Amino acid sequence: MAERRRIAVVPGDGIGKEVIAEGRALLVELDRAMSLGLELVDKDWGADRYLETGRGMPEDALDDLRDNYDAVYFGALGDDRIPDMAHGREILLGMRFGLDLWANVRPVKVLDPALCPLKDKGPDDVDMVIFRENTEDLYVAVGGTFKEGTPDEVAVDQSVNSRKGVERIVRHAFDYAQKTGRKKVTMSDKSNAVRYGGGLWQRVFQEVQKDFPDIAADHLFVDVAAMEMVRAPERFDVVVCNNLFGDILSDLGAALIGSLGLAASGNIHPGRIGLFEPVHGSAPDIAGQGVANPMAAFLTAAMMLEFLEVQPAADAIRQAVQGAIEQRQVTPDLGGQGTTQSVSAHVREACLAIVAG
Ligand code: NAD
Ligand code: IPM
Ligand code: MN
Repeated sequence: MAERRRIAVVPGDGIGKEVIAEGRALLVELDRAMSLGLELVDKDWGADRYLETGRGMPEDALDDLRDNYDAVYFGALGDDRIPDMAHGREILLGMRFGLDLWANVRPVKVLDPALCPLKDKGPDDVDMVIFRENTEDLYVAVGGTFKEGTPDEVAVDQSVNSRKGVERIVRHAFDYAQKTGRKKVTMSDKSNAVRYGGGLWQRVFQEVQKDFPDIAADHLFVDVAAMEMVRAPERFDVVVCNNLFGDILSDLGAALIGSLGLAASGNIHPGRIGLFEPVHGSAPDIAGQGVANPMAAFLTAAMMLEFLEVQPAADAIRQAVQGAIEQRQVTPDLGGQGTTQSVSAHVREACLAIVAG
């Protein structure tokens, strides 16, 4: 009997529901075929629950996750009826901060040169992993308003950066580079303008790189980093940056690989628990049409299975997604005519065939 792996499944809102339904079905089939010991527990956390009850998730949800789960498989949040995203702060940022998921890992790898919008660039050029600090910076909700609603109103958000927080993500990026045979870590900040937090990132990066003499350490201001990711993506290998810059660079990364519908991510507290989610949001512009690309959700499931140490299952998913792309079994965002369900059925069958050998 395989070790039990308990996963909270949180589809969320919009296309989150559509793609996680497909990812869940894939996990169920893989579990059946490979005896992975997965126990999937469905959670209705999202906009509907928030609007009905005033809370997006139960009061004890974080304690329950911490004590009883190995991972969370998450879709996306975002609903026009909650324009300030209050439920997103409660549920998604609540889990990232409450479970101290400090490493947001976002791989950016072209799977097919035809999908890369850059001229003459392909899988060898666009292949990087972004390590986004996930519990600090402007996301901490330290701030406030003054004279709100008057012509003199003021709004302040503080960017918080701790030595502990910066050091653990920078060290994690170098550790990852070393373990996976990558050659370079690029730290990206705005220390030429943002003095105090930038200064801390600079000092910590210079200290930590000394412990990794075999890995090249590089620095780019984030405005230049954005340009260089488009102009010369091959110069990036591992990227480490703060929360907000990581958010922005990872959507740029998604564009480089062809679609947000291919971009996967993990929010991880190493050794403890991980929350795995596509990089994309609830995409209200296409929700309910059955055309959302489920591949980001599949590749996210692969990241989760890797975290849960069932590598062969992760590999099978990646191989099946790659095959579907090569056979042009893709949704409109990738130039195809597939639907969420047709692409999903294709990947699921291919995956099971791979596993069956
Ligand atoms: P989005 O990522 O939802 O969509 C951006 C664009 O990419 C849209 O045109 C959308 O159709 C397209 N897209 C995204 N995922 C796709 C997929 N799987 N297949 C095909 N096309 C896809 O970003 P947005 O429109 O800025 O945000 C919508 C809502 O989602 C907002 O409420 C936002 O706050 C929220 N959001 C949530 C998360 C999350 O929960 N992790 C992430 C990003 C945005
Ligand atoms: C992401 C999203 C979130 C973020 C939002 C929904 C809070 O854009 O996961 O990339 O900014 O982290
Ligand atoms: Mn984002």
